[in-house]
Amino acid sequence: MSAAASYKVLVAGATGACGQAIVRELVATPRCEEVIALCRRANVRLPFADAGKVRVIVLEDFGELTLTPAERRSKDCPLWSLSGVGAAVCALGTTMKDAGGSKEVFQRVDHDYICGFVRTALACGARKIALISASGASERSLFFYMRVKGETEKHVHALCAEYGAALHILRPGMLLTPPRTSGASRPAERAAQQLVKTLRLSMGGILAVSVEHVAKTVRMALETAPEELLQRFSSLEEQASQTWVYPSRTIFRIGVEAG
Ligand SMILES: NC(=O)c1ccc[n+]([C@@H]2O[C@H](COP(=O)([O-])OP(=O)(O)OC[C@H]3O[C@@H](n4cnc5c(N)ncnc54)[C@H](OP(=O)(O)O)[C@@H]3O)[C@@H](O)[C@H]2O)c1
Repeated sequence: MSAAASYKVLVAGATGACGQAIVRELVATPRCEEVIALCRRANVRLPFADAGKVRVIVLEDFGELTLTPAERRSKDCPLWSLSGVGAAVCALGTTMKDAGGSKEVFQRVDHDYICGFVRTALACGARKIALISASGASERSLFFYMRVKGETEKHVHALCAEYGAALHILRPGMLLTPPRTSGASRPAERAAQQLVKTLRLSMGGILAVSVEHVAKTVRMALETAPEELLQRFSSLEEQASQTWVYPSRTIFRIGVEAG
């Protein structure tokens, strides 16, 4: 996909706070022909679902993303025969709370499902991948959450290298979201967000960015030549060949500039 070409994009996590903002942003950009949202439930409410540009593919068990093609039970899921996808965005993730405190469940979603999604997207033709990771992600971190995020980044990088695909890793700090309209309410998360807002501690995006800033950065990553982005945003890091890392402050700056 050249920098100026139009594209179809496959999105995982589209029903989440970040994912919904990303769908809204991509639907609104003329170069995006179609947003294909991979969801585990039918009848989900996505932004602009009626505008004719959003298609939902239901995969009830994301565990199937980790199976080999021969092992897949739902042979009739349209995902397995999807082609012509130019890009993919992964905003999938859970929390230790939603994982019932289980490290195993957390790792399954935040590592296994994400790697399975990226592998599937690459097989569908995607050659630009945007991964929503997290600030502090490192495979050497002492913290389990950061370590899983770091290991996921590393494995997604290896998959993209195998296919010669470009990888854009976004590492936001805390996500400032509109009030959640679906899913579990997270009082602790809301309280922390309020604190950040009230004390104006976002410090140019280092601590926190809005989901809209993340969405705008995803669009810029998919539609702009990386060389141009590197010139315009000095804090953008070229981590390896074809792999760019967007620290939280870069997401903030791109979000503000893309206004
Ligand atoms: N929240 C923050 O402050 C923060 C900060 C830094 C980085 N991040 C990272 O940014 C990403 C997006 O975060 P978010 O706050 O937008 O997340 P979110 O609102 O909780 O949304 C998570 C998405 O993942 C899907 N999902 C979760 N568990 C799943 C499972 N077992 N099978 C299939 N789908 C599943 C959800 O689908 P359903 O709607 O069906 O549940 C939803 O679409 C995550 O990777 C997160 O770790 C978040």
